[in-house]
Amino acid sequence: MATDVDDLIARDAAALWHPATHFDDLDALPPVAIVGAEGPWLHAASGARILDAIASWWTSVHGHRHPRVMAAIHRQVDTLDHVMFAGFTHAPAVLLAEGLLAAAGPGFSRVFFADSGSDAIEVALKLCLQYDAQAGAGRRRVAAFDHGYHGETLGALAACGSPTYRAAFADLLTETLFLPTPSLAEHRQHDLGSAAGAEDPACAAALELLGEHAGSIGALVVEPVVQCAGQMRMHGTGFLRRVVEHAQALGIPVIADEIAVGLGRTGRMFAHAWSGVVPDALCLGKGLSGGALPLSAVLLSPRFATAFRGAPSRAFAHSHTFCANPIAAAAGVASLGLLAERLGAPIDAGIAALDRARDAVARACPAVVASRQAGAIVAFDLRPHRRRPADGRIGLHLRAAAMARGVLLRPLGDTLYWMPPLELPPDALDRLVDATIGAIEEVLG
Ligand SMILES: Cc1ncc(COP(=O)(O)O)c(C=O)c1O
Repeated sequence: MATDVDDLIARDAAALWHPATHFDDLDALPPVAIVGAEGPWLHAASGARILDAIASWWTSVHGHRHPRVMAAIHRQVDTLDHVMFAGFTHAPAVLLAEGLLAAAGPGFSRVFFADSGSDAIEVALKLCLQYDAQAGAGRRRVAAFDHGYHGETLGALAACGSPTYRAAFADLLTETLFLPTPSLAEHRQHDLGSAAGAEDPACAAALELLGEHAGSIGALVVEPVVQCAGQMRMHGTGFLRRVVEHAQALGIPVIADEIAVGLGRTGRMFAHAWSGVVPDALCLGKGLSGGALPLSAVLLSPRFATAFRGAPSRAFAHSHTFCANPIAAAAGVASLGLLAERLGAPIDAGIAALDRARDAVARACPAVVASRQAGAIVAFDLRPHRRRPADGRIGLHLRAAAMARGVLLRPLGDTLYWMPPLELPPDALDRLVDATIGAIEEVLG
């Protein structure tokens, strides 16, 4: 007789379409039914405890169901679920905006809330391009980094510098100027804040390209420190500093996409701070609500608001329905408070523990050809050692091998990465190291 879990999986297979999932892979890797979560652990319907080593697509910065985030959600549910944000306001939105602005410093004066990371990127790009048009400059192109990832709506996708995401829509995407980016195969947390990356030939080429095309570029969008979906490429803070300073000197507004790397992930509240630059717009998402609810935000420098005053046609037309949802914003206020308390020694200790774990895996596995870390992001580049999967799909096989060992990993091709909650308890870290070594050995030798 079929169990409840089998029944659920069969009904899922009949009714649902999952993101980032190829139908033909579902036989080998069906979705795992989850009934609960706590801290870094997912509770499977089968009774298994699975370590969420990628924080459910980089969202649950404090682990799942953090009591303070949950309490804030419960309190908010009791008073106000939602109200449209045009013509209305509420305390959670005001408190979260004030908290974000205080954390980000005087370079920012206003917050526009959005629903997803992609939505935040659309907001930032549209604001920059409309700002430019209203200033009479009319620069309509966007510049972005090679291998970058900014989301999958058509505007954000146009700024993605990786064929994996663009290929099926390439003919529909507006033309972007892609800048070469250095890629430091080996990188340590202590390299943050140094000039690493600035001396790379890609840096000189990026600066030259920007200069050449400055007259047509209305915005440059960058992922500070780590290009996460771009196989966790780390470009060095010196590179970022030089490109951002050059763009701003050319009058090009810079959008920092910190949807993945912001809010403590690199060991500081915001990743751009490692480069000592201040972008003109700052996009946040994923962990903004503590990872519990969809919420994103764009922080903007003061010049934007003034440029949108005047005739009604100068207003910004972007109005997604759930903008500034009060429950998500209340979760965000609680999460930001937690981050402010934990940044510094507690989170640094978690980052140091991950560095030791990284070293243990790199030493144990000959298939690891390079490893790198920035904050609580760790990546291993892999090459087959004694074995290679016949179908060549290293990432898929590693995912299955890790899941069989009770750990959720989703390698990006032949780069395996960890992006867990910012602080992992020792039993979780031990499981992470053992399962990673076991999975790499099983698949690659
Ligand atoms: C850097 C970056 N920007 C944008 C996005 C898109 O965010 P969302 O999936 O919430 O639309 C992501 C998602 O992974 C991301 O990593």
